[in-house]
Amino acid sequence: MRLAAFFVAAIALLLAVVSFVLYFSFAANISSNVEGNFASEQAQNAFVARTVHHLRSEILLVDGAILVLVSGAGFLLARRTLRPIQRNLEAQKRFISNASHDLRTPLAVMKANLEIAQRYGAAADDRDIAVSSSLEEVDRMGRMVEDMLTLSRIDARQEELQFSVVDLSELLARIVEKMRPLAAGDAVGLDVVAAADLNARCDADHLQRALMNVVRNAIQHSPSGSTVEIGAARVRDRVEVAIHDRGPGIDGDDLPHIFEPYYRGDETRSPGRGNSGLGLAITWWIVEQHDGTIDVSSAPGVGTTVMVSLPLAGPS
Ligand SMILES: Nc1ncnc2c1ncn2[C@@H]1O[C@H](COP(=O)(O)OP(=O)(O)O)[C@@H](O)[C@H]1O
Ligand SMILES: [Mg+2]
Repeated sequence: MRLAAFFVAAIALLLAVVSFVLYFSFAANISSNVEGNFASEQAQNAFVARTVHHLRSEILLVDGAILVLVSGAGFLLARRTLRPIQRNLEAQKRFISNASHDLRTPLAVMKANLEIAQRYGAAADDRDIAVSSSLEEVDRMGRMVEDMLTLSRIDARQEELQFSVVDLSELLARIVEKMRPLAAGDAVGLDVVAAADLNARCDADHLQRALMNVVRNAIQHSPSGSTVEIGAARVRDRVEVAIHDRGPGIDGDDLPHIFEPYYRGDETRSPGRGNSGLGLAITWWIVEQHDGTIDVSSAPGVGTTVMVSLPLAGPS
């Protein structure tokens, strides 16, 4: 609001100066140009007065119209400029409250574990449980902090990719092996069907991370006993990777926002403990850096399919 008002005031001042200059120079022009064409001096003066009056009202009218237009445009412009900043601020606020909550929980669990180990440490069994549970929490926190760092590097344009030709079917096989323990822990099956020789120019580490975020989401939202299906096929000069789960799907209200940093659907708070809401934002950036696209289709109650399309490496 203040920005818009300032803008309008500056324009008004400029208009006033221009109008005064125009008014006085025209008025002087009129009185010097009409000389001699009138029967009497009185008639001439009356004509000049009328014309100058006319001129004044016209200038005022045009000024008024310009001011109204400029105020409207200024207000709209200010709102448009500020909206992304405001949204960013809200997202950061949301993140700070989520992150402090989510970092406090693993810390509390670890503290309890350490106390158990200290008190009953003589029994090897208790100690082992306490240690492995703490290690899990450390992994969770590590992933959150890693995501936060990556996103700030992306924002600062410091995250760099190194491209080489990579076989995506091998990359997918690697991802699935890495995700098996998580899937097994949730009693979720993992199926991959990938065509051979899907060579793409990509940064293998980053692309692996991008796809792993999607696969992790699929596993975390899958009901136990169901299977996450991953398929990769060549479609013309691109490769399409589809990741399908039979989870609860994504709410229509959430769908437009899931790629925003820090955004998390409400119902994921429990399955996604240790999730920062940054996964898909990072995935989006990585896919974009590969000239790829990512689409999500989801039907509540039926499941979610995430489709990533990447250009294949041309014959070199
Ligand atoms: N396969 C899926 N099924 C249901 N909801 C999903 C799925 N993938 C993503 N989402 C929704 O998108 C949100 C953002 O995902 P993401 O960026 O990975 O954040 P996080 O997993 O840390 O919550 C999730 O909080 C969840 O609401
Ligand atoms: Mg996630």
